[in-house]
Amino acid sequence: MTQRPATGHTSSLPEQVPDHEVTSLVRELSRYLEPDAPAVSMPPSAYHSSALYEFERSRIFGRSWLLVAHADQLAVPGDYVSLEVAGEPVTVVRDRSGTLHALSPVCRHRMMPVVEPGAGRTDAFTCPYHLWRYGLDGRLSGATHMRGNPAFDPDTCRLPEFAVEEWRGFVYLNFAPQAEPVSAHLERHIGGELAAYRLEEMVQVGAYVEEWQVNWKLAVENSHENYHVMGLHPNTVALITPRGADMDVRVDTPWVLRLRSPFKEPLDTTALDLSEEQLAFMYNCCVFPSSSLATFGDSVVWISFIPLSVDRTQVRGGILMPASQVAAADREALRKQTEEDAGVVNGEDRWGLERVQRVVGSRFAGRGHLSPKEPGVLAFYRGLARAFVRDDADWPGAL
Ligand code: FES
Ligand SMILES: [Fe+2]
Repeated sequence: MTQRPATGHTSSLPEQVPDHEVTSLVRELSRYLEPDAPAVSMPPSAYHSSALYEFERSRIFGRSWLLVAHADQLAVPGDYVSLEVAGEPVTVVRDRSGTLHALSPVCRHRMMPVVEPGAGRTDAFTCPYHLWRYGLDGRLSGATHMRGNPAFDPDTCRLPEFAVEEWRGFVYLNFAPQAEPVSAHLERHIGGELAAYRLEEMVQVGAYVEEWQVNWKLAVENSHENYHVMGLHPNTVALITPRGADMDVRVDTPWVLRLRSPFKEPLDTTALDLSEEQLAFMYNCCVFPSSSLATFGDSVVWISFIPLSVDRTQVRGGILMPASQVAAADREALRKQTEEDAGVVNGEDRWGLERVQRVVGSRFAGRGHLSPKEPGVLAFYRGLARAFVRDDADWPGAL
């Protein structure tokens, strides 16, 4: 299902003029696009440079598709999910006709957010400051004591709206007014491979929102490799992943990367008709810049890394299972169990990554050689380089 802004104001995050630090970093990162690119990690300043972060706000987060929720979190009219993406607040809400809107919650009067980060269900958004009221589609529906101002036109006053799309239950938004639709792209590149998982019939049984004290790129590159499983997850993920497992890059477009890695033993599924390969491998479908869907036989886990600042990242995600399996289960027990399991694994990654973030500014921090087990990391670096060097006219390009 594709929904676009119907009318009214649209905007992207402000374009920043790159300064010298950014220019030289981008030049360095663009080398990842060369055929003989060295297999080394990014310069440490990529993880703590405020100037680069400002550039990312416009070049990446101002014009890329970001996974922010599963449709089950927005099932009923009035359901909303509200968050901040690199300083830009946004609220995704389902209106009475079932249409999804991604609205800026910044009040058109004097900028009070009409809704805070979080989730909930409402009939309307009422600004707590002077009580202007907006409908679920963002239109102003009431503003007291405004008749005396002839310049104010309540009929054209509305919350700014951004692009939002739902693909097989996953809700993506994009701040760019002219964003290329993402659904057709995902369908073309990963839809066929994922068809057997019947994503649109899956139910979200558990969800989480966490905050990690890391630059968003540290979290994303970590999710693009399983080399760290033996170090950070010896008692969890390592139990289902063979030591030294290869991860291969199966699809590599500017927006979608499909990684594949083996399980220790083929999984046993009951609810889905999966092939031998699907039982033997985990598919991790990463959508640039910072979200992915990973398959574990009958269950699918999504995760999205949303920057809050240069060194803080919100981690959002959920666990999905086939509806038939959920119907037969104790739903509350399933929620508790899946959220607890996800919390343990996330906690292990967080433990490691926050330690890395603490030292990225060290005089002795440097670029390191990557293992052949980390092709996904290099693929992510290529995605970053493309985003930095391509301007709006040819972004994303080469679809
Ligand atoms: S700032 Fe929202 S009503 Fe005044
Ligand atoms: Fe991990």
